[in-house]
Amino acid sequence: MALIIDKDEIIGTLKRELQEITNMQEFQNLKSKYLGKKSLIKSLMNNLKDIDDVELKKEYGKSVNELKEELETIFDEKLSELKEKEREEKEKKNWVDITIPGARRKVGKENLITKTRKEIEEIFIGMGFSVAEGPEIENSWYNFDALNTPEWHPAREMQDTFYLSLDKEKLLRTHTSPVQVRTMLKSKPPLAIISPGRVYRKDELDATHSPVFHQVEGLYVDRNVSVSHLKMYLEVFAQKFFGNKVSILLRPSYFPFTEPSFEVDISCIFCGGKGCNVCKNTGWIEILGAGLVHPNVFRSVNYDPKVWQGFAFGMGIERVAMLKYNIPDIREFYKNDARFIENL
Ligand code: DAH
Repeated sequence: MALIIDKDEIIGTLKRELQEITNMQEFQNLKSKYLGKKSLIKSLMNNLKDIDDVELKKEYGKSVNELKEELETIFDEKLSELKEKEREEKEKKNWVDITIPGARRKVGKENLITKTRKEIEEIFIGMGFSVAEGPEIENSWYNFDALNTPEWHPAREMQDTFYLSLDKEKLLRTHTSPVQVRTMLKSKPPLAIISPGRVYRKDELDATHSPVFHQVEGLYVDRNVSVSHLKMYLEVFAQKFFGNKVSILLRPSYFPFTEPSFEVDISCIFCGGKGCNVCKNTGWIEILGAGLVHPNVFRSVNYDPKVWQGFAFGMGIERVAMLKYNIPDIREFYKNDARFIENL
């Protein structure tokens, strides 16, 4: 049995073997070959029992231990080297280039009709109005009769109204005005409400007409209400909605539920009143219908017209949105083309 340990030879071989090692598994295998249960060191240790000479035994044991320690140091070094390599690789894999521009996520946007409705609501709420709602499926009494619209009135003809029953009792409301009636039947004067909502008419779809569109109704009832109140509220609205420079013009008109009745214009927001294509060189653009509540409307809700007066108005949401946001075609609102919504 050779009791001479060739340390340099062993270490040299180990170092060569270690150079080949690239991962932890290989490392562990090699380590147990040198230091594990059936390793080189173990077999060298085993030789001890066959040495009788005490001195020799001591010396031999010492050099095996020294060798063991040296091997352990070499393995430790290799281990930290491997760990460092592993760490570097992990870092490389997880590396994020924070200078790359992020992918832009598309976020949803409010529909322009909703946005405009809220703007209108905000303005009137700021002037003390509250928001009322009514059904889209109406009885003809609320939609017409209670609003002083007699049987013979052209608005009651089939081509204008979507009727839901043959007796023409049920219909899709043609305007938000029936909410005036419903509100007055429910509450006592004085009151100030607006009522936004969807309305339906048998209109062909074109650039300015749609069989479904939206209106905001307004109703203000108190003692001693006159046209000047109507004009003041509408002017404040127009200036808050379209801009401070806007003025309004009341033109005499006719609605069955108001007397007197007006069509209300704003000074052209495109040319400032000088005259352009949009205002057809008149300097004015119509935005809504309005008037003082007709005594017959008050009678149908049991308000005494000698005590109470009021003004009312009805405005198309799409109409004012098209003017304010410069939208040439009402069909844009319903196409759901993302490019339209994004560019607002
Ligand atoms: N309801 C009318 C329409 O749809 C608009 C309107 C005009 C409403 C005058 C009113 C009003 O309240 O006073 O064309």
